Amino acid sequence: MRLSVDLAPQRKFGLTLINPVMTASGTFSNGIEYRKVFDTDRLGGIVSKGTTLRPRKGNAQFRTAETAAGMLNSIGFQNIGVRALVEQVAPVWASWRVPVAVNILGDTPGEYAELARTLDGVPGVAALELNISCPNLELGGMEYGVDCDAAAEVTAVCLRATQLPVIVKLTPNVTDIASIARAVESAGADAVCVANTLLGMAIDTHTRRPVLGRGFGGLSGPAVKPVILRQVYQVAGAVAIPIIASGGVMTGQDAVEYLMAGATAVQVGTATFTNPLAPLTVLNGLERWMQDSGEEDVRNLVGAARSIPAATHRLRTAAGS
Ligand SMILES: Cc1cc2nc3c(=O)[nH]c(=O)nc-3n(C[C@H](O)[C@H](O)[C@H](O)COP(=O)(O)O)c2cc1C
Repeated sequence: MRLSVDLAPQRKFGLTLINPVMTASGTFSNGIEYRKVFDTDRLGGIVSKGTTLRPRKGNAQFRTAETAAGMLNSIGFQNIGVRALVEQVAPVWASWRVPVAVNILGDTPGEYAELARTLDGVPGVAALELNISCPNLELGGMEYGVDCDAAAEVTAVCLRATQLPVIVKLTPNVTDIASIARAVESAGADAVCVANTLLGMAIDTHTRRPVLGRGFGGLSGPAVKPVILRQVYQVAGAVAIPIIASGGVMTGQDAVEYLMAGATAVQVGTATFTNPLAPLTVLNGLERWMQDSGEEDVRNLVGAARSIPAATHRLRTAAGS
């Protein structure tokens, strides 16, 4: 059975994963603790915690809240900063077989570029994942990910600053996610991740206050899957670069659905909070689904549910029709 996929097929050496199951940023720490729980080299890829130029303490409590079929978070990017990551964490990653993508975010395009430059050529770092669901201070606090030009600009500055493959993680909090995906593809992104968390909130009726310290937070978990599945399907109709799906993947069946919508790989996030072995559960479920349905190559699932199969769409796009 063939499970391997390539997230950067247009690059000379690609970005090959042994299977399409990755972990999602912010839900797997930097992967090191999980090494004690299971053999993380069995995964297709790991994505680091959101990393900034300088260390961040994160937001005030409360930072998480449970919801029906999901959770809200407003962690605020607590992390050790890129320099400590390069000195202390990347050397550990360098001894692993599983590729690690570093999820980065900056307050300005210049900060993104500096992060990309700092991580360029660092052993143990296989790719960058740009979190563009954060406010652009140069644009008065508007999120990069809600504006085609801002999303393209941050993609382009990172690509100029690094040789690493660049995955752009889109925000789902937009009217037309396909147009943002098209803009970052035109700017040279190797792949897109669809998507970050949906903006939500919870209210404590005893205190009559929002539960989260920051009022709003990102919704994740099974509750978001139908929304993100629809967005993956829409993005697959708009771009030819690989799509990584992120949103409520709990089982192998979820992974199969996302692949059929047009994703090349999936990320497992919130599921690991209830089951630390969730990424393996998803991988085993995917393999079992393939065995049961006599499917030999996971790539045959990509876009299988689309009315125009993804491969045909790519040919048409290439031909300009
Ligand atoms: C506690 C928590 C922290 C997160 N931190 C980040 C982050 O630092 N950067 C990022 O791009 N996404 C972050 N995310 C979003 C996840 O990577 C993922 O895209 C999202 O949760 C949807 O997937 P899921 O439903 O499988 O969790 C975070 C999510 C959670 C729940």
